[in-house]
Amino acid sequence: MSNPGLFITLEGGEGAGKSTQIDRLRSWWVARGREVLVTRQPGGTRMAEKIRDLLLHEHSGPVDDLTELLLLFAARAQFLDEQVRPALARGVVVLCDRFTDSTYAYQGGGRGMGEERVRVLESLVHGDLQPDLTLLLDLPVAQGMARAAERGAADRIEQEDLVFFERVRRAYLDRAATHPERFVLIDASADPDTVWASIVTVLQKRFGP
Ligand code: TMP
Repeated sequence: MSNPGLFITLEGGEGAGKSTQIDRLRSWWVARGREVLVTRQPGGTRMAEKIRDLLLHEHSGPVDDLTELLLLFAARAQFLDEQVRPALARGVVVLCDRFTDSTYAYQGGGRGMGEERVRVLESLVHGDLQPDLTLLLDLPVAQGMARAAERGAADRIEQEDLVFFERVRRAYLDRAATHPERFVLIDASADPDTVWASIVTVLQKRFGP
């Protein structure tokens, strides 16, 4: 029998090192003979990448919180339909840089919109589909912001202040506490090799050596 598809998401605040770890995750799965799709939110498909640009790089004026929330889920609906569902049906390992837990953290927590509006849209767009595993790369906000600042130009959301990102972190930790069946908390304050070692331990425990 062929392998079932797997949906693995990486979450975390600014400077958590998701991109570095997702590259390593890809290699880990490829070495085990699996087909892998690495993708991201918002984005992943042509239309959803256009919505990403609108969300992150349009600076022409303030963006209404509800508009931001709806655009994120509009991009997500297209992304799931075009990319994720077909890949999972083919038995692919889908590695996704952010998913709906980001919306709970950034819009629900950071923007202060609360969980309920996110939950309504989540159930409309993908009530039936949740990640099999979510790795939450957690680190103190000030440390993450310092790392992100070294990277250079910040997008529209990255320009928020420390208080905003403290709310984001709190919301993430709440998500992890309420969904222990799929969340694993990873200490991302260490160097990339140490963080990767923690991730490998999780992978081997769940999926074998
Ligand atoms: P990233 O690709 O560097 O992670 O940037 C994506 C930005 O979009 C980041 O600042 C977090 C933000 N974001 C939200 O605010 N809500 C969401 O649901 C998602 C997926 C991302």
